Amino acid sequence: MHLRITTLLTSLLYATGTLATQDPNDVSVLIKEAARANNESLLWGPYKPNLYFGVRPRIANSLAAGLMWAKVDNFATAQGNFRHTCEQNEGMAGYGWDEYDIRKGGRQTIHDAGNNLDLTIDFVKIPGGQNGGSWGFRVKGTPREDGEPDQPTSMLFYTTLEGLGQLGVDMDSVGDAPALEGDVRLNGFSSELGDFSIDVTTGPDTNDYFEHNHPSYEAKPLGKGIVSSQTVRQEDLWQTKGLMFLQMKEEIEPTIKEYGTENPHLLLSCLLLSINPVMETFILSRRFSRFDVLFSSGSAGEPLTSETITKEIKGSSLSFSERFRQVLAPQVPSDSAKYLEFSKAMLSNLIGGIGFFHGDSVVDRSAHPAYEEENEGFWEETAEARAMAKPVIEAPKDLFTCVPSRPFFPRGFLWDEGFHLLPVMEYDSDLALEIIKSWFHLMDDEGWIAREQILGMEARSKVPPEFTVQYPHYANPPTLFMALEAFMDKALGNKSLQSEGLDTSDVAESLRTATLRNPELADAYLRSFYPLMKRHYNWFRNTQRGDIKSYDREAYSTKEAYRWRGRSVQHILTSGIDDYPRPQPPHPGELHVDLISWMGMMTRTLRRIAETLGEQEDAEEFAYHENAISRNIDDLHWNEKEQTFCDATIDEFEESVHVCHKGYISIFPFLTGMVGPESPRLKAILDLINDPEELWSDYGIRSLSKKDKLYGTEENYWRSPIWVPINYLTVKSLYAIATTDGPHQEQAREMYSNLRKNLVENVFREWEKTGFAWEQYNPESGAGQRTQHFTGWTSMVVNIMSMPDLAVSAKAHHDEL
Ligand SMILES: *[C@@H]1O[C@H](CO)[C@@H](O)[C@H](O)[C@H]1NC(C)=O
Ligand SMILES: *[C@@H]1O[C@H](CO)[C@@H](O)[C@H](O)[C@H]1NC(C)=O
Repeated sequence: MHLRITTLLTSLLYATGTLATQDPNDVSVLIKEAARANNESLLWGPYKPNLYFGVRPRIANSLAAGLMWAKVDNFATAQGNFRHTCEQNEGMAGYGWDEYDIRKGGRQTIHDAGNNLDLTIDFVKIPGGQNGGSWGFRVKGTPREDGEPDQPTSMLFYTTLEGLGQLGVDMDSVGDAPALEGDVRLNGFSSELGDFSIDVTTGPDTNDYFEHNHPSYEAKPLGKGIVSSQTVRQEDLWQTKGLMFLQMKEEIEPTIKEYGTENPHLLLSCLLLSINPVMETFILSRRFSRFDVLFSSGSAGEPLTSETITKEIKGSSLSFSERFRQVLAPQVPSDSAKYLEFSKAMLSNLIGGIGFFHGDSVVDRSAHPAYEEENEGFWEETAEARAMAKPVIEAPKDLFTCVPSRPFFPRGFLWDEGFHLLPVMEYDSDLALEIIKSWFHLMDDEGWIAREQILGMEARSKVPPEFTVQYPHYANPPTLFMALEAFMDKALGNKSLQSEGLDTSDVAESLRTATLRNPELADAYLRSFYPLMKRHYNWFRNTQRGDIKSYDREAYSTKEAYRWRGRSVQHILTSGIDDYPRPQPPHPGELHVDLISWMGMMTRTLRRIAETLGEQEDAEEFAYHENAISRNIDDLHWNEKEQTFCDATIDEFEESVHVCHKGYISIFPFLTGMVGPESPRLKAILDLINDPEELWSDYGIRSLSKKDKLYGTEENYWRSPIWVPINYLTVKSLYAIATTDGPHQEQAREMYSNLRKNLVENVFREWEKTGFAWEQYNPESGAGQRTQHFTGWTSMVVNIMSMPDLAVSAKAHHDEL
C-alpha cells in the first residue's frame, strides 16, 4: 500500500491573475478573460449523458466518475438489476433533472421502480482556484412505496483516470484495516486538473450499513464499504460495468462454492470487490441511504465538506429558479405552478443532457463518382458504391453538444442541435455559442460537418455498424444558423449598450450573457467564425445544387435550386424528415422545397451577420442570393392548383412537374420565415394548417395531411405524427404574422393561441401520465410515442410556453375599444 499522493507545485505553477485585476476597457484582455472564465465555468458537468449519472470535465482522456446501483436481496437478479447506462426498458418510472444550471448544478431524481428505489442526486459546482473549481454530489435513496424499508441496496461509485496522472487511496483515510469504516479519500493529480482529492463520505449515522454476522465475513471483512481498483486498457475503460462484473466473478465463485447462493449477506460480500493495489479504476461500494462525493481541486484551498454541499445545494436551486423566472417563465394560459415545474424540468433535462464527447469516427472518403447522383437509377449505383467502399477511421475529435435522448440517442445530431439551442439561447446564450463553436470545429476543409456524430467506441456501441459511416456529400438542415439568427435577434437589440466587462461578484451569472452584453465580444465571436460559416454555406451551394437549366425550367434565377443528396427510394435521411413522401421514383432532376427554404434562412442569417460585421460586399452578395431564393421558391415550387408548395421532379416526358404532398414539407417556406405577412400565398397556407381534415389536430400540427393517400402508411415516422420542433416553427411563424400588420393578422393570432395551447397541454399531459417527454405524439390520441425520454427538441415546449399570450392582449384591445 503505497499510493499516497502529496500536493506538489500547484500553487507555484499557476499565475494568480483574476478578473478583477484586468482592465475591462482593453478589448483583447476582455475577450481572453471571458474565454478563460467560460472554460473554467463549463469545465465540469454530468457530461456523460448516456449514464444515469456520470461526471467528467471538458477534457479528452481525463478523470471521469459515475454511479451504479442495485437492489441486492437476491443473487439471481442482482446483476441484472445494476443500473448504469440509461436504458428504455429497465422499469424506470421516470428520471431526469428537475432543476439544472450548467454553471452551478442541480437536482436529478430517478424513480427506479425495478429496484423499488427512488434516488435524488444533487450535483453542485463550486468555483475557485486555477483548475476549473470543485464539485460534489449528494446521493439520497428511499425505498418506493412497494419497497422493503430495509431492502439491501448497493451503491457503487467509481472513478477512472486516463492519460498522464495519478490516482490513489489516501491511506490515512482508511487506516490499516482492510474494511472501510469511515470516509474514504482518493488523491490524484493530472496535468490539466492539477492536484485534487475525492472524498466519499459514509453519510450520517442514520445510514444502515450491513452488519457483519455472516460466516463469509470472516473471510472477507466488509465494514461500511470497500474500495477496489484495477488497471485496464484505455479503449476498454468505458465498459466499466462489464469490467466490474468480470472482477466480481472471480470473487464470487469460490465464495458461492463454500456458502451457496441463498443468503443475501453472502451476496453483498460477493458484490463488493477485494482491495487490490491501486491503479486507475476505483470502485467504491457501500450500502447506503445517503452519502456525499466531494471533488476538491487542490488549487482552490481547503477540501470541500458536506456542510459546503448542503449550502451550495440551496443556493444553486434558488438561483436557478430566479434565472428561470426572469427569462423563461411560462405565460398565460400555462402560467400556473404545475407548468412552471414542468417547464423547468424540460429545460433542465435538455441542459443536463449536454455531453462532452471525444473519439474517432468512421468516414467514407472514397468520393465515388456515383455519389454525384447524376444518373437515373442513381440510388442503385450509390448503394453499390457504398457496399464496396472502405471507410476510414478519422482522427479523434471533441464535441460539446446537447443530445436528442439520453437512453437512445446519446450523441450529437446536427439538425437537432439548432433546435436544442433555442431554449438554451434564452437561458444561457454564451453556452449556446460555446456549443455552436464546438460544432463548427468539426467542419472539414471543404465545409462539411457530419450529420451524426458517433465519436469513439462507446458511442459506436449504440449504433448498428451500417449506420456508423458518415459521407462527406451528405447534408443535414443547417439549423445552427437558426440558432445564430436567434442570437442576432438578441444581440442587435443590445447594440447600443456600452461594454460592461465581467461582473466578478457572480462570475457564472455574468458569463451567461457576456457576449450579448458586450458588442466587442459579439463582434469577436462572429468574426472568428465568419470564414467557417461562409465555407459551410458554399459547401451547401456546391454539393446540394439542383438542376434548373437541363430541364427548361422557368425561374427568376437560373441558379437557386436545391436537391438533397443521399436519397433512396424510401428515404431522404439527410433531410431529417426521413420517410415523408417524395417524388417516385427518385430522379436526378428533383428539386426539394424544404432544402431551398433552409437555404433561404441560412442566406438571410449570413446576410445579417455580414452587415453587422461591416462586410459590405458580402452582405450585398447574400442579399442578392436571398432575393433569388425567395423568388425561386415561388417560381419552382408553388403549385397554383394545389395551392401549396411542392417538390419538383421530371416526368416520363422529360417535363418538370410538381409532386405535392401537403404537410410539413409543403409549408416549409412559411416555417423558415420565407413567407411574409403580405404574401399572396399566406392565406392558403394558413387555411391548410388550420383545417382539421388536413394538418390541424387537437394536439398539434400533423406531419402529413390526413387527406394525403400516404397518411399514416408504412413506417409512419413523418407521415402523420406530431413533432414538437416543426410545431415550434409553426407557432413562431404564426406569431410573426400575428404581430405585424397584414390582411391575415387576425387569423394568425387565433391559430397562434390555439396551437400554442394544444401543444403545451398535450406534451404536459403525457409527461404527467408517463413520466417522460416523447419523440413524437399521436395525431389521433395525443399519446407520446416512439423514443421515450426524448428530452432534446421536444423541450422546445419551454419556448412555446414562454411566448406572449396574444389572446389576452387582443381581448384587452377589444375592451379598450
Ligand atoms: C478554452 O478551452 C479550449 C478547449 O479546451 C482551449 O482550446 C482554449 O484554448 C481555452 N481558452 C482559453 C482562453 O483558455
Ligand atoms: C440585452 O441582453 C440582455 C441579456 O439577454 C437582455 O436581458 C436585455 O433585455 C437586452 N437588452 C436589450 C435592449 O435588448
